[in-house]
Amino acid sequence: MRKAATEIEHLREKIRQHEYRYYVLAKPVISDYEFDQLLRELQRLEAENPHLITPDSPTQRVAGEPAKEFPSHSFSQPMLSLENAYSREEFADWARRAAQFAKTESLDYVAELKIDGLSIELIYEDGLLSKAVTRGDGRTGEVVTGNVRTIRSVPLRLHENVSVEIRGEIFLGLKAFRQLNDEREQAGEDRFANPRNAAAGSLRQLDPGVAAKRPLDFYGYSILPAISASPTQADNLKRISALGLKVNPHRKLCHSVDEVIEFSMHWEEHRDDLDYEIDGVVVKVNAIDIQEILGATAKSPRWAIALKFRARQATTKLVDIRVQVGRTGALTPVAVLEPVQLGGTTIRSATLHNEDEIDRLGVQINDRVLIERGGDVIPKIVSVVEQAPDRRPFEKRSTCPVCGGEVYRSEGEAVRRCLSQTCPAKLKEALLHWAGRRALKIEGLGERLVDQLVETDLVRDVSGLYELNQDQLEGLERMGPKSAENLLNEIAGSRSLEFWRVVFGLGIRHVGERTAQLLAEHLGSMARLQQASQEELELVNEVGPKLAESIYKFLRQPDNVALIGRLRHAGLQMESTAPPLSSIPAVFAGKTFVLTGTLDGMTREEATALIEGRGGRAAKSVSKKTTYVIAGKDAGSKLDKARELGVQILGEEEFRAML
Ligand code: IVH
Repeated sequence: MRKAATEIEHLREKIRQHEYRYYVLAKPVISDYEFDQLLRELQRLEAENPHLITPDSPTQRVAGEPAKEFPSHSFSQPMLSLENAYSREEFADWARRAAQFAKTESLDYVAELKIDGLSIELIYEDGLLSKAVTRGDGRTGEVVTGNVRTIRSVPLRLHENVSVEIRGEIFLGLKAFRQLNDEREQAGEDRFANPRNAAAGSLRQLDPGVAAKRPLDFYGYSILPAISASPTQADNLKRISALGLKVNPHRKLCHSVDEVIEFSMHWEEHRDDLDYEIDGVVVKVNAIDIQEILGATAKSPRWAIALKFRARQATTKLVDIRVQVGRTGALTPVAVLEPVQLGGTTIRSATLHNEDEIDRLGVQINDRVLIERGGDVIPKIVSVVEQAPDRRPFEKRSTCPVCGGEVYRSEGEAVRRCLSQTCPAKLKEALLHWAGRRALKIEGLGERLVDQLVETDLVRDVSGLYELNQDQLEGLERMGPKSAENLLNEIAGSRSLEFWRVVFGLGIRHVGERTAQLLAEHLGSMARLQQASQEELELVNEVGPKLAESIYKFLRQPDNVALIGRLRHAGLQMESTAPPLSSIPAVFAGKTFVLTGTLDGMTREEATALIEGRGGRAAKSVSKKTTYVIAGKDAGSKLDKARELGVQILGEEEFRAML
């Protein structure tokens, strides 16, 4: 018993260190596969010794039942908000007043990025996370510990056994936000307006299991009690980091107003380089004793201020609404705008997502609209600011604007799709997707070239790229011998890229980059992927019934089967190099099965896939090497043979039980 306890604690410590390296430092030293193995080993040991499970175990991030409602908690110190400065002058005024108040010539400041997320207080007791509380009204907040425990960058246990309160920002990264929204749209749910709302929605999920699927993140920015931690904000941030929490690395100790302004201008210009939304910088007086002298008003501290960036909203005229056809045939209305400046770039178009969105906004052509660039790459229309006297409604067409094919809107879906298998718009999008940086990384295969390849009929599906030759390419516009050669090299190079990129590149509906990686990792090869039953697909992490159905159907469509065959022939990677992380244990490894008669609940092919998916072999005839014979209805001579050789015979029920 003692031994198990020591082993479990040892393993937990190891996992905590890897979690810290991965989620906090972003410097992993082992592969995801190895990490997963450690976690599984711990899960196994804990399952054997349930009395040894503790709430700070890495296996306990998602634990407990969904809450009915969130209890409230009164803060030891109010969670104040910040005053805003919108210009250099307003900021300089604040700095002057603060220095006067503190009776000093000049002050030092710490400038931090102001992430547009939600503030949270994490309460640690003796090093263990005991409560996580939202801001609420600033005096009392909601206790959302269960959901915050699912955030991997929030340690369940600090590096020291201290009792502290850490405040910081919870947010959803832009990549995760866009993926979540795409998934919601495909599932017929409303998109979140911005990452902040998405994060708020996730945090207020009553079921931590749902929150766990949203990759929320956290940065700490203050520690209470402040003065006991260290004498400056700069050191407090280091202290938070030393305790094992994430602190935003983009921060600066500034010795003058000019330095602060320079920091702010830099980040206003580079805000798009970050994977999260920032709407300004927070400037804090560095010395904690001066912070205490400055104190606070009822609403906000006098020692800190938010220096806000220019809003990324503008008004302009909606000139037209055009319809684009995507890779999956989805018809997306796009707003054509009178060009307008927004946060340093000229905006000419905005997305309208789907036709319902047009109705929801009540927008018509020629109206003046408010547009915003938020977490989505493409700006969107927020509202109508003025209806035009000559406004006219957008007319929904019943045919594809590109190929004239039939358009269909399936039940529960917000989008309409072109049904034609040969729609050039779909093919163009498919090629661009295949060549994209996240898929097969074929540099130089841009929109103009794709248009030509499709219009000249040189390429009819993605596998056609691998049959192109120098002469054909040189025959295209703006294509010299050198660029043709470069492109061919790029295409050839894509053959050796990882198998998951091929899975992603196929453009299976609902299968994003991450799902493609999980599928590739778990099943290991295209052959196994193609053989997997819907049930087996559902065993892959993060794959639900709907997604499993989508993948299963896609892989069985004759056109797609043929395409995969051509891609295999063209030399693309059809296997993972990493060992398969199959969540389906290879329980049948080394075992040979023979099927005879008809099974009630599954076809012969399905049964074979189930056996092979678990590492077993399905043979045609019974021999001494046969481990089991599965006998269905009307079993014939194979059953007799099995009896003769003394091979174990299983009924359908027994076979199912083994699965
Ligand atoms: S300090 C009393 N630092 O901005 C000081 N706030 O109204 C309180 N925020 O909702 C906040 N990044 O959650 C501080 N580095 C940062 C911040 C930050 C984002 C948020 C905070 C609050 C709002 C300020």
